[in-house]
Amino acid sequence: MESAENWSKSSWKAFPALQQPNWPNQAAVDKVLAELSILPPLVFAGEIRSLKALLAKAVNGDAFLLQGGDCAEDFSQVTAPKIRETLKVLLQMAVTLTYAGGVPVIKVGRIAGQFAKPRSSDTEQVGELVLPSYRGDMVNSPEPTMDARLANPKRMLKGYNMSAATLNLLRAFTRGGFAALHRVQAWNQEFVAQSPMGRSYERMAKQIDQAIRFMETIGISMDTPQITQAQFFTSHEALLLGYEEALTRVDSTTGGWYDCSAHLLWIGERTRQVDGAHVEFLRGVLNPIGVKIGPGYEIDDIKRLIDKLSPDNEPGRLTFITRFGLKNIEQRLPPLLREMKREGRNIVWSCDPMHGNTYTSSSGHKTRKFNDILSEITSFFEAHWAEGTIPGGVHFELTGDNVTECIGGARDIVDGDLDRNYLTTCDPRLNAEQSLEVAFQIAEMIRK
Ligand code: PEP
Ligand code: CO
Repeated sequence: MESAENWSKSSWKAFPALQQPNWPNQAAVDKVLAELSILPPLVFAGEIRSLKALLAKAVNGDAFLLQGGDCAEDFSQVTAPKIRETLKVLLQMAVTLTYAGGVPVIKVGRIAGQFAKPRSSDTEQVGELVLPSYRGDMVNSPEPTMDARLANPKRMLKGYNMSAATLNLLRAFTRGGFAALHRVQAWNQEFVAQSPMGRSYERMAKQIDQAIRFMETIGISMDTPQITQAQFFTSHEALLLGYEEALTRVDSTTGGWYDCSAHLLWIGERTRQVDGAHVEFLRGVLNPIGVKIGPGYEIDDIKRLIDKLSPDNEPGRLTFITRFGLKNIEQRLPPLLREMKREGRNIVWSCDPMHGNTYTSSSGHKTRKFNDILSEITSFFEAHWAEGTIPGGVHFELTGDNVTECIGGARDIVDGDLDRNYLTTCDPRLNAEQSLEVAFQIAEMIRK
C-alpha cells in the first residue's frame, strides 16, 4: 500500500498542534511515548479495514452508522457494570434501527480510548484559583486543585491500559453470547414495558419480535454467529498526537500505516485546521476518519480538507459528523450537502445532535434538551431527503447509567432534577432510557 506523500507518523510535528497539554517535563513525556510505542496495538488492521468496508456501504445507504458513548471516559468508571451497560444500550438502539431502516447498523463506541478533551480555554477559574483546565483523564484529573490539574504523562500509559481492559471485555461480551439477538430484544421489551412512552414503542417492539419468531419458525438457526454475536468497533477523538503516533504501526499483511489505538479516529471541530498537525497526522493513516463540522465552516476549507484526507475519494474513508445545533442546521447543512453532491465526494454523513445544543441551565449545569436533540436529528433527515443525499448515521453522547444530565425525555427530567445524578466530567449525556427513546423515535422516522 502506498503511503501518503511526504508523510511519516511524526511529520505532524512540523505543523501547529492545537489543544495539546502543557506537559511540565518533555523528557518524561518522551519516556512514556517510547514505552507505548513497543506495547501491542489495541486493534488489528484487518478489523479497521472491515469497518471501512462497512462505512463504504453507509455512503450509499446500504448500512447505517451508530456511534455513541461518553463525552469523556473516566478512569474510575472503567468497570464491568459500566462497560456492560453502555454496550447494552448501543446494542438495543442498533436492533431497533436495523429493523426500521432495513440495513445493517454499524456499531461504533466512543469507548476504550476517549480520554482526551479539547477545551475552550486553557485555564478555569474556580473561586479564587485559576487552574489549568481539565483535559481528560489521559492528561490530568478533574478535581479543582493545582495538583490534580497538572498534566501527567504517566496518565497516557494508564489510558492505554484502561483502553486494553475495556476492549478486552467488549470483545468478550460481543463474542460470548451477551449480544445475542433474542437477549437484546428481551431488553427492549423490558424498556417498552417500563417506559412512560412504552405504548408508542410497543408496536415496533412487537413487530421485531414477530420477525425473530418467523426466522425461528422457518428453521433459521439461532446459534449462528450472525445471531449470537455482534461486531463492535471503537473510536475516539485523535487529540493527543504523541499518543496516537506511538500506537501507529505498519500492518504486516499489507504494509500500510494504521493508527491502532482504535478502529475509527475523529478530528474535533477545534483541531480540524487544514494546515494543522491533526490533519497532517491523520491524512497518513489508513483508518476511517471522522471530521466534526460546526456551523462556522467555510466551504472552501472543507474541500481542501477532503483533498488532504481523502485524495482518492475512497468510500468509507471519510465520515462528516455535523454538529450545527438546532438553530443552525436548516441553514448550514443543505448547502454543504449540495456542494459535496455536485462534486461527487464520497462521504458518510452523520449527525451529532449533541454539541450544537449545549447550554448552561439556571441551576448552573451544562445541559442539553432532549427535544432539541430530537429536532436536530429530524432536520438532518429532512435535509437529506430534500437534497437527495444519504443520511448515513448518528453520533451521541450517552451512557447506560441512570444519569440526570439532559433535560426532558419520557420521564421529563427538569432543571431541578439535574443535581440528582449529574456525573459527567465533561458534556451531558443521554441516559439509557433517553437513548432508547431517541432510537425508537428515529426508527419511527425512517421505517420503510
Ligand atoms: C466531542 O465530541 O466531545 C467534542 C468535543 O466535539 P466537537 O469537536 O464537535 O466540539
Ligand atoms: Co462532548
